[in-house]
Amino acid sequence: MMIPVCRLADLPRGEVFRLDLDPPVSVFHTDDGELFAIDDTCTHQDASLADGWLEGSAVECPLHASAFDLRTGAVDGPPARRPVRTHEIVVVDGVIHVRLSTAARDLPPCVTVRVAGGPA
Ligand code: FES
Repeated sequence: MMIPVCRLADLPRGEVFRLDLDPPVSVFHTDDGELFAIDDTCTHQDASLADGWLEGSAVECPLHASAFDLRTGAVDGPPARRPVRTHEIVVVDGVIHVRLSTAARDLPPCVTVRVAGGPA
């Protein structure tokens, strides 16, 4: 499924756009001009990676500082242990779109329960 995000011109380098899906997806525009999309929720606990720090092609979680490679989703070290899911970016006529991955989501247990309709 392709989801329109915003115009490329409206997402400056170094900025992030958070798509309010359930679970949310974030689109990062790096200082080098690359675009990446990943699940917004850290795989350790319920933290928004859009609120983290973008460093090159990695984002550092705002809660406990594990960093995720935006190209692969790989994590650099604990406390997060599992990679974050990545999504494909397509730019059509100047509009950024995300093609959602069909891979299994890897969310922390508290978020998995919420997405499944359980207690918040
Ligand atoms: S919530 Fe992201 S590293 Fe802990």
